[in-house]
Amino acid sequence: MSITKAVIPVAGLGTRLLPATKSQPKEMLPIGRKPIVQYVVEELAEAGLDNILFVTGQKKRSIEDHFDFSPELGDKVIERDFPEHLSFFYIRQTNPNGLGDAISYAKKFTDDNSFTVALGDSVIMGGDHSSLLKRMVEIHENEKAGATVAFMEVTEEDVRKYGIAKPKGRVGASFEVEELIEKPHPSEAPSRLAIAARYVFDPAIFEAIKRTPAGRKGELEITDSMNTLLKMGKKIIGVKLRADEHRYDVGGFETYFKAFIDFALDDPEYGYMIRQYMRKKLKEV
Ligand code: UTP
Repeated sequence: MSITKAVIPVAGLGTRLLPATKSQPKEMLPIGRKPIVQYVVEELAEAGLDNILFVTGQKKRSIEDHFDFSPELGDKVIERDFPEHLSFFYIRQTNPNGLGDAISYAKKFTDDNSFTVALGDSVIMGGDHSSLLKRMVEIHENEKAGATVAFMEVTEEDVRKYGIAKPKGRVGASFEVEELIEKPHPSEAPSRLAIAARYVFDPAIFEAIKRTPAGRKGELEITDSMNTLLKMGKKIIGVKLRADEHRYDVGGFETYFKAFIDFALDDPEYGYMIRQYMRKKLKEV
């Protein structure tokens, strides 16, 4: 793959998961056996994205420690924590001023090349772990897009929680985006296609971020900047998650608990036991 650089923004405050995130990053909370962000790094590595920049902030140092060598653990680390060929880079976002602002810190790192962004609190599972990113990069390059964005189908009720695509024309496995609407009311949503935490950007996104004013919460929203990108005449392509691909967004307790249950049930050693336990528990309620 020609694109080898990836950015993982992990500087957010994680306020929806307080008090769990009071002194530790939400990206380091475990689902199943590993911290959330480790699944993200593994997905990037499998997709051939070997140079990874973390946009970090206060109280996020444990992420750097996690992706460092741990000689003191010796053979207690049974599997390697992360693939050997990866290079990690870190930059601090001065204030967690929104995802657009976080991504703007990657300008030097990307060195005028297209790059991917994977949110540090969202895991894509199912199918071939890295297939989504590989498809996105391929489409991005073929279409010479300004941005290529992953989308998942959500329920009508849930559109109000996400950035939603207004597609231009027919929606297939990939489609052109006419506009993005942030958290619309279900009656006003142009589709049920929600942005799903993975992006490929042309370097023009940095200019788009610069030209975009802060949103309602005073933060620089990447969805707004993608609309600016469209106004700048760039194309945005949506890539749909396949039926066997699932996004776990671990930003709030409901989705975090559901993710943990799924991963515990899938555990090769304890999954069967947990299933038995849950059957018994559910009979009691
Ligand atoms: P969220 O908006 O879900 O994370 O960003 P948050 O702001 O930490 O969460 P709440 O709303 O306070 O609970 C998705 C990802 O983008 C990163 C976060 O760390 C998270 O992994 N992010 C968000 C940044 O790096 N910088 C920001 O300014 C905002």
